[in-house]
Amino acid sequence: MDFPIFHLDFFGDRLLIAVIAVIHVIINHGLAVGFLPLITLMEYRGYKASKNGFPEGEKWDNLAYKFMFVAFVITTTFGALTGVGIWFSAALISPASIGSLIRIFFMAWFIEWVIFMLEVIFIMIYFLTWKKSNKDFAAKKKHIIAGTALSIFSWLTMAIIVGILGFMMNSGSWVEQKSLLTGFTNPMYLPQLAFRTPMAFVMAGSIAFFLTFLFLRKDFDFKKIVLKNIAYWMFIWTPHVFFAGIYYYSLIPDLMLANLPVAIATQAFQQWYDSLLYYLIAAIIVSMLFTVWFAFKPKRVPVFAAIIPILVIIVTMGTFERFREFVRKPFVLEDYMYSNQLLLDDYKIFQNDGVLKHATYTSTPEVTKENMLEAGKNVFDITCSRCHTHHNVNSVVRKFEKLFSPNGEPLDKQKMKDYIPVMHKGRYYMPPFPGNSPETDALVEYILSIQKSDINIPGAQVNGVQISPLHLK
Ligand code: HEC
Repeated sequence: MDFPIFHLDFFGDRLLIAVIAVIHVIINHGLAVGFLPLITLMEYRGYKASKNGFPEGEKWDNLAYKFMFVAFVITTTFGALTGVGIWFSAALISPASIGSLIRIFFMAWFIEWVIFMLEVIFIMIYFLTWKKSNKDFAAKKKHIIAGTALSIFSWLTMAIIVGILGFMMNSGSWVEQKSLLTGFTNPMYLPQLAFRTPMAFVMAGSIAFFLTFLFLRKDFDFKKIVLKNIAYWMFIWTPHVFFAGIYYYSLIPDLMLANLPVAIATQAFQQWYDSLLYYLIAAIIVSMLFTVWFAFKPKRVPVFAAIIPILVIIVTMGTFERFREFVRKPFVLEDYMYSNQLLLDDYKIFQNDGVLKHATYTSTPEVTKENMLEAGKNVFDITCSRCHTHHNVNSVVRKFEKLFSPNGEPLDKQKMKDYIPVMHKGRYYMPPFPGNSPETDALVEYILSIQKSDINIPGAQVNGVQISPLHLK
């Protein structure tokens, strides 16, 4: 309301953040949090072997360096860009919620930023001094210490951000106490951290399998040793993923079921919820079967098969992220701010006065007979456009057509007007409509008017902004 409405009318706004964020999470977990300790461990393995006079020491070191090259290139390019991309896209699409999160978690983010800086410095040191550190054992030892520090910093940045992600799902007692500590120690924090940590290690193991097949095509004997070692790593961490996954998942339903007002939504949720558990179990079984195959019959493994566990893990992680986003609706910050950026506490005022009256950026501070369509568009922008487009992904027109005219009959104005004030009861993931009755009428007129055209209607980034005359005074 206090920000101009940025809107992408083709894919929808949600998808922009989702695509950037999921790529970022996969790179962060797979190639940083999980991979850096694995690489450091491999380097240490090489160091130990060399010290004991085994020739394979150098091979471990070489392979670890190649892994680090991949991790370095991808994390410092795509990883860093998508990290900044999350800030940009979230600030465009959800400026009020990002603003709140910054105010609540200022210190946490500040500390995270310092640790991140250290992480960047250490990744430079670790990668760029690798070759030099091969000159003697003392240098190598220091280098391994740098790798260990890098691994710890990398985990710490994730451990801080997960506190904020957990808060968005369940704000715990923060609503009463409003302190950083109560926000950070929300009920979803530890379960998410417990799940993401081994998940990152398993992702890293899958990536390591693939890269081993890629880089060690000729040296069969050494490849066998490496694959066995990665398999041990997988055997250690996979059960943790399973148990932490169950723990994480067991905390969601109580929380969410309490929020679900209607049986049909409960059923839909229950089905999705059940399938998530089967999905997790299936993903773990597939991943374990591949691990056994790679470790014990590596000769028969074509390189493309080694990509499959990576894909399985990417889909699993993406599914969990999607689920996390789904269950926190209709809130963007649980029990505090709805996904349409409006505060729960302000709802009474809006529903009484109308949202337009309190909006900074609107050309129509109230609905009149003359401005119906324009006011309707402003109401749509403020109350629906965070999740719906006009005609494309999650199109508001198609949603109404599916609901009220499944056989192509004209939409019934009255049915739409009756539906909007109770829409959150049928579909609990939508926030209640924040507007008043003239705004409901204007919104319905607007939706009916756009039903007849197929054009995309972009947001303030193309159309510019207009400050409400009420706010100019
Ligand atoms: C927090 C995001 C969000 C907001 C805000 C939101 N919706 Fe929705 N809406 C959804 C989702 C998600 C669906 C379901 C999509 C699906 O089933 O594929 C949906 C479904 C619908 C449906 C179909 C419901 C059904 O029972 O099939 C209608 C109608 C609808 N929305 C209208 C609106 C209107 C009008 C607004 C603005 C006043 C709005 N929505 C605001 C997320 C939202």
